[in-house]
Amino acid sequence: MTTQTTTDFMEIVKGRRSIRNYDTNVKISKEEMTQILEEATLAPSSVNMQPWRFLVIDSAEGKATLAPLAKFNQVQVETSSAVIAVFGDMNAVDSIDTIYDMAVEKGLMPQEVRDRQVPAIKGFYSPEDTETLRDSILIDSGLVSMQLMLVARAHGYDTNPIGGYEKDQIAEAFGMDKDRYLPVMLLSIGKAVDAGYPSVRLPINDITDWK
Ligand SMILES: Cc1cc2nc3c(=O)[nH]c(=O)nc-3n(C[C@H](O)[C@H](O)[C@H](O)COP(=O)(O)O)c2cc1C
Repeated sequence: MTTQTTTDFMEIVKGRRSIRNYDTNVKISKEEMTQILEEATLAPSSVNMQPWRFLVIDSAEGKATLAPLAKFNQVQVETSSAVIAVFGDMNAVDSIDTIYDMAVEKGLMPQEVRDRQVPAIKGFYSPEDTETLRDSILIDSGLVSMQLMLVARAHGYDTNPIGGYEKDQIAEAFGMDKDRYLPVMLLSIGKAVDAGYPSVRLPINDITDWK
């Protein structure tokens, strides 16, 4: 079974399912992976902070480092074209100047709006209030992860979001600062070799109130 590339949005959404077993012959080039990440990062984020960070694990060496940290998800690690470790950067506020300056340079934001908003954002996400920052980072990183899964389908690939891994060890295992980079999830990506399992959803009436 190979995933067909489609740009039909409903087909992308309704046809997505977690795929855990991939064609080991399929490699995703750095160029295409970069494009997938660029498209995923069109996701919205709080104050456009874009706090997500990606570690693309696609080498034999990287997979060997990851394997013992994802013991219950070995098939995805072994067979996927890559596993993307999604992190949230607790220092993301440091990028706010760059992001807002880019918007001004591109003529997308007046300088005075930038000059007003940047200090206000830095004040809101004060380093002392790590809980507010952490919540915001995790929400934004969840959004980019979802978008990445849908973008992957538009490129003809399948994914599996993975929470079952040693979150307390992943950053350090790859030489990253564990106090700075919050583990969000792993996303395996590749060409499916089976159809995965259909899954059920709760009826909307059971999970929604209208007032
Ligand atoms: C945050 C998160 C963590 C998950 N962790 C795992 C995991 O560790 N292993 C796994 O096989 N699937 C994992 N899944 C996949 C879910 O089991 C799957 O999304 C759910 O059963 C619905 O199936 P579907 O994705 O095919 O629609 C995870 C999904 C999410 C969103």
